[in-house]
Amino acid sequence: MNAALPPILEGAGLSKHFAGRRRLLGSPSVVRAVDDVSLRVERGETLALVGESGSGKSTLGRLLLDLMTPTAGDVLYEGRNIASLPKAEARALRRDLGIVFQDPFASLNPRMSVADIVGEPIWLHEGLARSDRKAKAAELLRTVGLRAEHGARFPHEFSGGQRQRIGIARALASSPKLLLGDEPVSALDVSVQAQIVNLLEDLKSRFGLTLVVVAHGLAVIRHMSDRVAVMYLGQIVELAPVDALFEEPLHPYSQALLSSVPVPSPRARRERAPIDGDIPSATCPPPGCRFHTRCPHVRPLCREARPPLEAAPGGRSVACHFWREIAGAGAGTIVTPPASAAFTRRLALFEARSQQSEAANAARAAEPANIT
Ligand SMILES: Nc1ncnc2c1ncn2[C@@H]1O[C@H](COP(=O)(O)OP(=O)(O)OP(=O)(O)O)[C@@H](O)[C@H]1O
Ligand code: SF4
Ligand SMILES: [Mg+2]
Repeated sequence: MNAALPPILEGAGLSKHFAGRRRLLGSPSVVRAVDDVSLRVERGETLALVGESGSGKSTLGRLLLDLMTPTAGDVLYEGRNIASLPKAEARALRRDLGIVFQDPFASLNPRMSVADIVGEPIWLHEGLARSDRKAKAAELLRTVGLRAEHGARFPHEFSGGQRQRIGIARALASSPKLLLGDEPVSALDVSVQAQIVNLLEDLKSRFGLTLVVVAHGLAVIRHMSDRVAVMYLGQIVELAPVDALFEEPLHPYSQALLSSVPVPSPRARRERAPIDGDIPSATCPPPGCRFHTRCPHVRPLCREARPPLEAAPGGRSVACHFWREIAGAGAGTIVTPPASAAFTRRLALFEARSQQSEAANAARAAEPANIT
């Protein structure tokens, strides 16, 4: 990673809202798939996006790759705003960003030969003659551990792992700088998953790729990634180097998500409660902190104010008003810096206000009912 260069990709205030189901006698609801997300993808790193189903991982990945137009916000590729690039430059940029899909069977055209599937992006981007395309496709098939003669066959003749290798060869055909793997191994047998993970890591170091990986399997994430962005209801709640996150997650949602993972370090926190309840609907996310309906540490401020994603020790960022207290109360190793004076004032105000309203409610409840 080169600190002097801008990040390879950067999302700034990205949102993607979809039209949801039409309400009875009303306008369609709005699905807030991604809501005001900012993050940087550094050159050469593997960044994982994790979170429950529906948290917006795939949508964020597609926004970053310019496969979708954001409702708001910008994507910067090597420091330049993609939306303002001239058409020719935007086309050239598409070569630099490749995608590997979850279901290798659905993403490969069953009527095309493997050589044509892999060769199609080469034709689109380089317009090579058919024989040169075939030669390049053969080379790519060898790169991903298949044989050149596999090019004459069709996708249904291959196993799941081999089909994913074909998908990866196709993604590599335009010589991308960055690959997005959207659940690249979750449709595969466990025995094959490790082979594909190893292949992606090998390709990353051979070609100097940057990887963005969406994955459910925490073992895959721990093995592959340098940093992890934890998403909840369309927002990033924690962004951290992988070891720091797995040893000592700071956000209550990350703690719940990782509660099933064994903790190797005796110093690391162990009291992690599994998460209760379902993820709320993205059409009607809770106000304030979106996790407040499920959070064991919820306080009045959480229901009203969205916690900003703020810097925490060890190159992390966390979006929780009370991460300092939560980290400080556990058996963790983090030395928590004091909260800002502005936050402390805001908190005191909220707590005072909620105590007043609780007292008013109690007084009302104690009043004798007025029977007429
Ligand atoms: N094209 C679309 N139209 C309407 N809603 C959509 C569309 N694509 C995604 N959504 C909704 O946006 C939200 C985020 O979806 P997304 O696929 O990004 O989540 P995800 O984290 O990738 O989930 P999964 O782990 O199940 O793949 C979900 O509520 C989903 O239903
Ligand atoms: S802001 Fe409040 S509700 Fe949200 S995670 Fe932190 S403690 Fe829980
Ligand atoms: Mg997805």
